[in-house]
Amino acid sequence: MLTVFYYALAFTISAFFAVLKWNSLRYSRKGMPPGSLGWPLVGETVKFLTQGPDFMKGRKLRYGSLFKTHALGSPTVISMDPDMNRYILLNEAKGLVPGYPDSMRTILGTNISDVHGAVHKRIRGSLLSLIGPIAVKDRLLTEVDDFMTSFLENWDGKTVDIQEKTVEMSFLVSMKAVVEDEPDSFLRTFKASFDKMALATISLPFKIPGTQYYRGLKARERVITMLSELIAKRRASSATHSDILDRLLRNEDGKYKLNDEEIMEQITTILYSGYETVSTTTMMAIKYLCDNPDILQTVRDEHFAILQKKVHGERINWDDYKSMSETRAVILETMRLASVVSGVMRRTTEDLELNGYVIPKGWRVYAYTRDGNFDPILYEEPFTFNPKRWLEKGLENHNHNMLFGAGGRVCPGKEWGMFKISIFIHYLVTRYRWEEVEGSKTLAKFPRVLAPEGLHMKITKY
Ligand code: HEM
Repeated sequence: MLTVFYYALAFTISAFFAVLKWNSLRYSRKGMPPGSLGWPLVGETVKFLTQGPDFMKGRKLRYGSLFKTHALGSPTVISMDPDMNRYILLNEAKGLVPGYPDSMRTILGTNISDVHGAVHKRIRGSLLSLIGPIAVKDRLLTEVDDFMTSFLENWDGKTVDIQEKTVEMSFLVSMKAVVEDEPDSFLRTFKASFDKMALATISLPFKIPGTQYYRGLKARERVITMLSELIAKRRASSATHSDILDRLLRNEDGKYKLNDEEIMEQITTILYSGYETVSTTTMMAIKYLCDNPDILQTVRDEHFAILQKKVHGERINWDDYKSMSETRAVILETMRLASVVSGVMRRTTEDLELNGYVIPKGWRVYAYTRDGNFDPILYEEPFTFNPKRWLEKGLENHNHNMLFGAGGRVCPGKEWGMFKISIFIHYLVTRYRWEEVEGSKTLAKFPRVLAPEGLHMKITKY
């Protein structure tokens, strides 16, 4: 009887270790980076998601700046070395293509991150013509200014949740650029579905009713239906519009001709990519300005100097925006400390070598850029909010600054995003003072930058 017990025990222990080692055995190859692949299927996902930056720091201490893990359903190599990260971003042609989680691909559709080579060139070209720096200067600038001036009206005497307001601002300003004259009721319905979709882009892709992923897939169906109806309505009418949808449908620039499906994916990309990046950065910039009154005063002076040069009612122009150097520095410093984008994900299309290690075909490569934002050599006293550092020559263009990515996929929406945040700040600082309401001070920085109970500010006229 005892022998049976010992056999059973030995079997259980061996089975336990076999399970534990399963990932290591399954993915074992000579010359791979150090690291642990964790449990079958789940790998180290739980630690990766719950410990976030501490997980990264711990692994870096143990294994160095390049290590392997298994997270979000895939064996992954994580790089925390700024030079290596830059190399990864610049070398799509060597087999390092975007490799975002499956949930993102199914929810957003075949978007820009999913295409390569000539197709990527066409989709990116179309996108740049719609929202790139020249489009901002020539068209989007006035729209954003019009939107912000009325969005920031009548806040005097109110307590507002800045998180809620910046989310609303970020979505609506993009949506109005896409379709200029749809009624508020449509925008609200569309936003409700789009929000469900956006939330599901980072979820476990189990297509089971009740899950966030399932709700996201259903929301995607509604979003696509609404966009198809809008396209049909535009085609049935002879009216012209001055918005992104009109430009996409008119297709005047034959170089970037898109079919209807691509038009809908392009709109989804514009709305998704510029959403949380802009809302969270705006919220955090306001929080940092609130906590640093001297810096707020410098920013305020900058904006009043712009106003002083204008006759009453004259609008903000490109030169005004370009003169907002203190504001730009505040935004970049906010992005550095409260990074919305922690890193970029790639997938290997063939076996390749990184730093003398072999990375097998089909693995994810996560260029974790967030760590570089706290490099004490590049950013003296890295944990201090010090926008002035960005006014020093060249820091924005430094090779290790990858806030907006690098290489062929560097963010095409950078100036549009920076412009929206700058103009929001312009109207806020020239019209109001704000003070944080006690009790709304908790802020989470990982996995998302978030004020779980909102960021409530008491607003008074300046
Ligand atoms: C202002 C805050 C923003 C930040 C911090 C940011 C950051 C980034 C980063 C790091 C990448 C590189 C991703 C990669 O290499 O895989 C990227 C790409 C991209 N961004 Fe932004 N972004 C911002 C705003 C915007 C806005 C307003 C748009 C508007 C449409 C936008 C659209 C895109 C698109 C479409 C790509 C993919 C480009 C490609 O694959 O060729 N972003 N962004």
